[in-house]
Amino acid sequence: MTTEAIVDVGPVAHGGHCVARLDGQVVFVRHALPGERVRIAITERTKTFLRADAVEILQAAPGRVEPPCPYAGPGRCGGCDFQHVDPAVQRELLGDVVREQLRRLAGLTWDGVVEAVEPAALGWRTRVQFAVDDLGRPGLRRHRSHDIIPVDRCLIAHPDLPVVLGRTWDAETVESIVSSTGDRLLITDASISDEVEAEVDGVVATDGTVRGGRGSVTERVLAADFRVSGSGFWQVHPEAATTLVEAVIEGAGARQGDTVLDLYAGVGLFTTFLADEVGESGTVLSVESDPGGSRDARRNLHDLPQVTLVGETVERALRHGLLGTAADVVVLDPPRTGAKKAVQGIVDLAPRRIVYVACDPAALARDLASFAARGYELTGLRAFALFPMTHHVECVAVLERTSATAD
Ligand SMILES: C[S@@+](CC[C@H](N)C(=O)[O-])C[C@H]1O[C@@H](n2cnc3c(N)ncnc32)[C@H](O)[C@@H]1O
Repeated sequence: MTTEAIVDVGPVAHGGHCVARLDGQVVFVRHALPGERVRIAITERTKTFLRADAVEILQAAPGRVEPPCPYAGPGRCGGCDFQHVDPAVQRELLGDVVREQLRRLAGLTWDGVVEAVEPAALGWRTRVQFAVDDLGRPGLRRHRSHDIIPVDRCLIAHPDLPVVLGRTWDAETVESIVSSTGDRLLITDASISDEVEAEVDGVVATDGTVRGGRGSVTERVLAADFRVSGSGFWQVHPEAATTLVEAVIEGAGARQGDTVLDLYAGVGLFTTFLADEVGESGTVLSVESDPGGSRDARRNLHDLPQVTLVGETVERALRHGLLGTAADVVVLDPPRTGAKKAVQGIVDLAPRRIVYVACDPAALARDLASFAARGYELTGLRAFALFPMTHHVECVAVLERTSATAD
């Protein structure tokens, strides 16, 4: 069976690879760029496609660069997908992926660009979970594997993160967190030396128990502070929260007195700023199912009388009528899998606008098709490079009720 071959690389595809063909079969090739001719090593065969790594570049495309990280490349660390690509070209590739998903899954055309956010290449990741190998060395996982590649540095990690690398640990994982206010936390079950303890503000066990110091960090966005406990959800790029808040508030167009839903609300990031928009005569219903996130939200939002917290899954809250019978605006920011089961419930509330924040363009495109079938058209879409060097991209889509469905 062929294990190596030479292919001409076609377009980028969702997932950090490009598409090529080998003997009529689709091959998803990592570490390549569209337009290149490369030698591939096949890494996986399924009935319908192959996976492969580009192991030799025979004809390079103009966007190719020397990967800044020594651990990037075939068979090495799987944390980044595009270390071999100039950051501006990475954003073009991400734009092509968003375009393709929207076209294929929702029949939509989008001619926008993926916007850069600084830092736009390295040193951005404010939360990194390292895996620890049998010798106690921290590292990151090989692509599509449980194997741990020990590393002595990670170039996308924020420089102010508590230092995990270069030390040994007696636990399976160590997560390192630095907040926008400079709070530093470790999430681990490992023994903590006095030296490490002196470098951090708190240590939290993987079951959420506070082991020493504080169990949370404070994140500051514009002028608002948010408590985020342990490994509770918070965007990892230092400019992500502000960037998304501004895009969401602009997209929502909420007015004083409106009723707004913030679905999948986390610790209350969008809720806080939406509350400002609707004022005390309005209402924001903030829905979050994670108990830790809900606890933080209660604390972060306690001085906003127009906010009501709903500690439930979005699907159950919609199904059981916990969110009322009508809404003016709905904001949703679901996990990677999207909001398939929530679409009908949202439409039933007949909002004039829906703002959909998405970390997976495929799930977004699928759900946009569902909304379109129920009378909501896409009127705006912005995309942000909030995960440089990786294939991840964040989108903010604005949908409006078409006249056919407006009352
Ligand atoms: C992508 S995060 C967004 C959080 C928040 N909007 C932010 O930007 O900080 C998704 C959130 O949805 C929550 N979540 C996941 N599934 C949920 C569900 N079915 N119902 C309600 N919340 C859910 C997660 O706990 C997480 O806090």
